[in-house]
Amino acid sequence: MRMIDIIEKKRDGEELSTAEIQFFIDGYTEGTIPDYQASALMMAIYFQGMTEQERADLTMAMVQSGDQIDLSKINGIKVDKHSTGGVGDTTTLVLGPLVAALGVPVAKMSGRGLGHTGGTIDKLEAVSGFHVEIENEEFIDLVNKNKIAVIGQSGNLTPADKKLYALRDVTATVDSIPLIAGSIMSKKIAAGADAIVLDVKTGAGAFMKTLDDSRDLAKAMVQIGNNVGRNTMAVISDMSQPLGFAIGNALEVKEAIDTLKGEGPEDLTELCITLGSYMVYLAKKASTLKEAREMLVKVMKDGTALEVFKTFLTSQGGDASIIDDPSKLPQAKYTFELEAKDEGYVSEIVADEIGTAAMLLGAGRATKESVIDLAVGLVLRKKIGDHVKKGESLVTIYSNFENIDEVKAKLYENIRISSEKVNPPVLVYEEIT
Ligand code: URA
Ligand code: CA
Repeated sequence: MRMIDIIEKKRDGEELSTAEIQFFIDGYTEGTIPDYQASALMMAIYFQGMTEQERADLTMAMVQSGDQIDLSKINGIKVDKHSTGGVGDTTTLVLGPLVAALGVPVAKMSGRGLGHTGGTIDKLEAVSGFHVEIENEEFIDLVNKNKIAVIGQSGNLTPADKKLYALRDVTATVDSIPLIAGSIMSKKIAAGADAIVLDVKTGAGAFMKTLDDSRDLAKAMVQIGNNVGRNTMAVISDMSQPLGFAIGNALEVKEAIDTLKGEGPEDLTELCITLGSYMVYLAKKASTLKEAREMLVKVMKDGTALEVFKTFLTSQGGDASIIDDPSKLPQAKYTFELEAKDEGYVSEIVADEIGTAAMLLGAGRATKESVIDLAVGLVLRKKIGDHVKKGESLVTIYSNFENIDEVKAKLYENIRISSEKVNPPVLVYEEIT
């Protein structure tokens, strides 16, 4: 087989065979196929697309390019959730304990990542003593016992994806639905998921800015999952404004606790119940989505989910007394209120820009080397559609430095107030099952 023939075939719009895709992924991972040929193929795929079979083949070839996590010693159907990324997305912290409370095993492997706030692990490390450096065996025992545990990323997962993603990043080929779908799905499958629930975000703060693109991506991923034997469902949810109120690590832990108590923001609560009902259903703990939803509402109301969160924190060294006393979480030195300059209705809270404001405070990493400040961030006091009086607070800013002029300017620029009444955005646009 020759790489040039594979490039030519895709350039001319033909379908690649399973063996050809395998040849490319193996050769590129090993280094026998050079970047310039891989780039040419990525660009050909960008223009010609991929068939359903090609997408499944690409995904599985990337899965097999490295280690695969063996979760077979964990009892039950392992359902993983993936979000395409948003601002103030506290769902993982809430969903884990919530579905674990219904016996769904949550075996979460997480990373730190770049972004507006830290990843799931950073957020959990706002709980004093909590650690994810545990052995595989202990991880598996904890999931079997408590139904939930989190471990740091280890092993060499999907090296083909790592290499290709870096190449796509510098060759203007990231924005290709089959390539994004394969990239995301390969990582979930290699991490051991039997079933997958996808939260595909749409709007200003999302990777996919339009509903059409988000729908195409969601459908592509659901199709891949189902074609390779992993039951997969997706929702398309709003990311025009941040999710919930809190953006920042310790602040989001507090928000997750409130939500597990049934006292969280409406949008975050509803999205967690929706995504959770898919997870419970796919794990075969309920026979309908409606039944799953009722079960989730019950464990939220009766305190079971919060108890699971407590046990989970304690089992990994965390001080669970923060649940009853959140003032034990890292606290910022200063708080400021962003006062509305006009009376009216909040019409826009541009999610990605608000995320950047949180990052300016130190809540997220700008580069891999950045050290994040777990205490700082933002808490929205108003959401789109809310009425606001002049001088009323739009946002509380938690900072460890006093001069926050730049942060304030960014927030004022990106929270808009209209004199006319505004409807809040739809939270869940579509469900793809
Ligand atoms: N996120 C991923 O993991 N992969 C892509 O290709 C794009 C976004
Ligand atoms: Ca939030």
